[in-house]
Amino acid sequence: MERTLALVKPDGVERCLIGEVIAHYERKGLHIADIKMVVPSRQLVEEHYKEHKGKDFFDELVDYLTGRSVVAMIVEGTNAVSVVRKVNGNKNPLEAELGSIRGKYAFETTKNLVHASDCIETAQREINLWFQ
Ligand code: CDP
Ligand code: MG
Repeated sequence: MERTLALVKPDGVERCLIGEVIAHYERKGLHIADIKMVVPSRQLVEEHYKEHKGKDFFDELVDYLTGRSVVAMIVEGTNAVSVVRKVNGNKNPLEAELGSIRGKYAFETTKNLVHASDCIETAQREINLWFQ
């Protein structure tokens, strides 16, 4: 069964939307294989987002996640990587489909509530990083 890494970012935790996010995945038919609350170090966040190092939004993105509660989960199901990204919606909530998590609950590109791995290789790397 395919597995992917999903995060409820700090704005989602602070707005009490953890249950809402999980409900979207579960109602789609995905299975939460593991879940935990993490307060990530700057090092963990920088490693997680290393593909974006050097981009103009990198520092803001790292500041936003560092030292604040995040929910990390391993989500399992057929085509879990692409299904979870579809349920999350486009990174720019203004472009996200209205039925997606970002389309419903977010309106900023940085504080866009959720994360999901972008391919199977990334999923494996991110699962190892957050659930080592
Ligand atoms: O999260 P996703 O994989 O959909 O998008 P990404 O392109 O990998 O970007 C990672 C995260 O960086 C996004 O989810 C946003 O939180 C943030 N970002 C941003 O703040 N400004 C941008 N122009 C692009 C991304
Ligand atoms: Mg990404």
